[in-house]
Amino acid sequence: MLACVAPRQRGTAIARLLQYRGTMTLDPAGLDLLFRTARTYNGWLDQPVAPETLRALYDLAKMPPTSANCQPMRVVFVVSKEAKERLRPCLDKGNVDKTMAAPATAIVAQAVHFHDHMPFLFPAVPRMQAILAAMSPEARDRLAHQGSSMQGAYLMLAARALGLAVGPMNGFDRAAVDAAFFADGACKSNFLCNLGYGDPASLYPRGPRFEFEAACRVQ
Ligand SMILES: Cc1cc2nc3c(=O)[nH]c(=O)nc-3n(C[C@H](O)[C@H](O)[C@H](O)COP(=O)(O)O)c2cc1C
Repeated sequence: MLACVAPRQRGTAIARLLQYRGTMTLDPAGLDLLFRTARTYNGWLDQPVAPETLRALYDLAKMPPTSANCQPMRVVFVVSKEAKERLRPCLDKGNVDKTMAAPATAIVAQAVHFHDHMPFLFPAVPRMQAILAAMSPEARDRLAHQGSSMQGAYLMLAARALGLAVGPMNGFDRAAVDAAFFADGACKSNFLCNLGYGDPASLYPRGPRFEFEAACRVQ
């Protein structure tokens, strides 16, 4: 099967085959880091998040799939005192202290006109921009919300992969955040996510999860 592949490219081709056969998997420590022992944090160690870590975080989160590769997520990383103060009045009471204390708070948002970028993002189907432009604003909004939610989840897993802790939040006034951070109307906020190095003392008891039988069917 590899005979038709130029020798120079055989290593890559073999790596791809192995990957598709499921032989490349995360080790147990990696699974713990991303899923099993990872928690939602409500307090932070006194340790800043470096700007290059935020960049590394996005560079991982941008890679997993979105519909037609449309990548509607936009992120504002709120780190400065000034920007944190702008965020403060938008937060539900229970989310204020932990957000003000977090080294960074990501405003995970969706681009309203995400379809403008389709010629760049999905050149394989040149008419994709026109297809999306012909949709109702509600249908496009659903796509943007789906994509930004998925990308926001990728962002949280990327953060964990880089050793950060996350604290996602719905408890905020979306209209107020949009007015404070997206005054031009180009983006709409989806959810907030505190980022930092988690303080274990801030953890609540772990909530239960559904077992496979309760949540899944194999047909
Ligand atoms: C989209 C989303 C919104 C959330 N909103 C809030 C919030 O506003 N305030 C809060 O304290 N926790 C919030 N949470 C945290 C959840 O309650 C927490 O992730 C969940 O209980 C699981 O906790 P664990 O990861 O420690 O097991 C939110 C989580 C998600 C994913």
